[in-house]
Amino acid sequence: MVTLAHFIFLIITVTGIYGYPQQDGILEQINLGTKQLQHSNVIPQSLTESVQKIKNITDAKQKSEMVCRACEMVAGNVISLRKSLADRDTMIDYLKKLCNVYTDFGPIACEGYVNLDVDTVLFVIDYRANFTPARFCSIRLQEYQCIDPQAEPWVIPLPPPSQLASESATSNKTTDSKPLNILHLTDIHYDALYKHGSDAQCKEPLCCEEGTPSKPENAAGYWGDYNCDTPLEAIEDLLKRINDKHKNIDLIYFTGDIVSHKSWATSIQSNRESIRLILQFFNKSFPNITIFPILGNHESHPSDYFSPLNALFTNVTTEWIFDLAADEWIKWLPIETQSTIINGGYYTVLVKPGFRVVALNSNVCFSSNLWLLYDDKDPFNQLLWLVKVLAQAEQNNEKVHLLSHIPPGELTCHKQWSNQFAKIVKRFSKTIVAHFNGHTHTDEFRLFIEDDQVINIAFNGASFTTFKTFNPNYRMYEVDNNSLVVSDYDQYIYDLKQANKNSGTPPQWYKLYSFKDAYGLKDLSFPSLKSLYDKMTSNGSNNALVEQYYKYAGKMSEVYLSVPCDIKCKKQMICFISSVEANTSFNC
Ligand SMILES: *[C@@H]1O[C@H](CO)[C@@H](O)[C@H](O)[C@H]1NC(C)=O
Ligand SMILES: *[C@@H]1O[C@H](CO)[C@@H](O)[C@H](O)[C@H]1NC(C)=O
Ligand SMILES: *[C@@H]1O[C@H](CO)[C@@H](O)[C@H](O)[C@H]1NC(C)=O
Ligand SMILES: *[C@@H]1O[C@H](CO)[C@@H](O)[C@H](O)[C@H]1NC(C)=O
Ligand SMILES: *[C@@H]1O[C@H](CO)[C@@H](O)[C@H](O)[C@H]1NC(C)=O
Ligand SMILES: *[C@@H]1O[C@H](CO)[C@@H](O)[C@H](O)[C@H]1NC(C)=O
Ligand SMILES: *[C@@H]1O[C@H](CO)[C@@H](O)[C@H](O)[C@H]1NC(C)=O
Ligand SMILES: *[C@@H]1O[C@H](CO)[C@@H](O)[C@H](O)[C@H]1NC(C)=O
Ligand SMILES: [Zn+2]
Ligand SMILES: [Zn+2]
Repeated sequence: MVTLAHFIFLIITVTGIYGYPQQDGILEQINLGTKQLQHSNVIPQSLTESVQKIKNITDAKQKSEMVCRACEMVAGNVISLRKSLADRDTMIDYLKKLCNVYTDFGPIACEGYVNLDVDTVLFVIDYRANFTPARFCSIRLQEYQCIDPQAEPWVIPLPPPSQLASESATSNKTTDSKPLNILHLTDIHYDALYKHGSDAQCKEPLCCEEGTPSKPENAAGYWGDYNCDTPLEAIEDLLKRINDKHKNIDLIYFTGDIVSHKSWATSIQSNRESIRLILQFFNKSFPNITIFPILGNHESHPSDYFSPLNALFTNVTTEWIFDLAADEWIKWLPIETQSTIINGGYYTVLVKPGFRVVALNSNVCFSSNLWLLYDDKDPFNQLLWLVKVLAQAEQNNEKVHLLSHIPPGELTCHKQWSNQFAKIVKRFSKTIVAHFNGHTHTDEFRLFIEDDQVINIAFNGASFTTFKTFNPNYRMYEVDNNSLVVSDYDQYIYDLKQANKNSGTPPQWYKLYSFKDAYGLKDLSFPSLKSLYDKMTSNGSNNALVEQYYKYAGKMSEVYLSVPCDIKCKKQMICFISSVEANTSFNC
């Protein structure tokens, strides 16, 4: 997460009760105050107030409008300062001031973010032809539906529908075959600097690394904390527990995010160390099991950035992360995967005849990936490649499991990418049998629905990290060895608060639910999932299934559930289930 986008992003995170402000006055103050900061270290009171007034707008549509217009003013000032030949130090100074005005990261994180991001920001301003404030705001703040009149939509061509994609591969069910057991791990967010007993209620965006707690309850817990990422002990316990409890794992899906949320202080060196350590743990814990890993947005440095491989200046390239992935993943993957990993962080493997894993680097679509500003057209030709792989799989009558860190329909996945991705899934909905995602840390699922029928499902494996407010989890899927359809899964968690009460003993893991039992399904076929969806959308606010879905979403965490899910929240959750494109999620 980062940069000048963030300065504006934070304008929205607080919702107040202030009425409709006078728009023009606010924007004038924003413009004036932002300009003044170029020459002064004093933050004008009127600027702080105007920012607060925008935060206080309650009407979503009005707020979006104000956020977009404010964004364009701030971005406009940054761009013209640079275009007037301001040097790197001047820009750093200005960006830091803006960070302090527009975010609540605090001076330490602002300092770190700007130092890490400045060269990328300047690269985009200097070398992206016709870089406008509207381009910046429409991409970086797309969830406010900011508009760029000059945006050029791009399209990935699809082959015509095929007759081949019948059910033939799945129709010959040999019922005597055992199911496959697939372990899903995601979003571990290992914090190498985690310090037991340090301050868990700090001022920075991530805690538990330093400081003295103001009272004993605020001390960083032994097994982790709700404002914090994951201590090593918790990861060791996780792997031991899985090894002890599950003797029959056939495959492991790891859907990304190893590195901690201290994104304002990453380095290639420290990210590399965390990634290597965790993958070595996996290798040691599961010596005979194939792991299919993918990248999370946090693996990169600077966090979230995935530069084109031909970046003109070597000091802004993020190429190292693809090289590292290729080196580290080779212990589980065939050699043929190397070239696409090195060229974009994605790959495909034929697990056995008829069963293919396709592993994406969907982090490229994340709106925090500033390289989208430079060039947003199908980064690394990944979607083009995806279509080719799926067309071939269709021809060969293979079934596909699709691994992707960012779930379909994420609000912050570049809308053009998201839209093209959804079209690809719809075209190949008989070939792709399921998606496996992470990133949101929430236990949730998404359904692709077309003509009133479910045509695909995306499972989110939630997170092992407890950041922020969650309990930790892992998941075991049961998969039909012929159809490759997920027939059920078990979700395992423990209560972090309880665990921390007994730091001397390992956490009490337990099975929270199985999907089939929890939702009263006879199977997870698409018609069954459609009837589940219909049940969840019935009864308005009085829906027991949605209530339950919410509890599972937060993994029963007291902290998460202390915010009750009102009717608006319930409607939104249901809406997200059926939104598999960013631009439909906007309406939720
Ligand atoms: C924003 O709303 C808060 C209450 O939610 C209020 O105390 C504050 O004065 C408001 N700020 C501005 C600048 O309107
Ligand atoms: C499915 O079964 C039919 C008839 O038993 C057989 O002809 C066909 O080859 C089988 N297909 C596969 C993919 O095994
Ligand atoms: C799944 O099927 C393959 C053949 O397609 C077989 O080799 C493998 O042993 C089966 N796995 C299980 C767990 O039954
Ligand atoms: C992975 O584990 C195996 C067996 O425990 C070991 O021989 C191998 O060296 C490990 N590979 C790496 C890259 O750590
Ligand atoms: C891994 O597989 C090898 C060879 O198949 C076997 O000798 C070894 O005991 C297995 N290790 C474990 C931990 O299951
Ligand atoms: C990166 O390259 C730019 C352009 O050559 C240069 O101005 C800047 O100082 C470099 N940054 C670092 C950290 O080396
Ligand atoms: C909807 O309401 C009816 C009547 O109160 C109840 O029987 C049913 O279980 C409810 N359905 C769900 C999914 O909550
Ligand atoms: C989303 O975008 C697609 C393609 O641009 C368009 O067909 C669709 O109507 C849009 N949906 C919404 C809700 O804006
Ligand atoms: Zn994450
Ligand atoms: Zn993520």
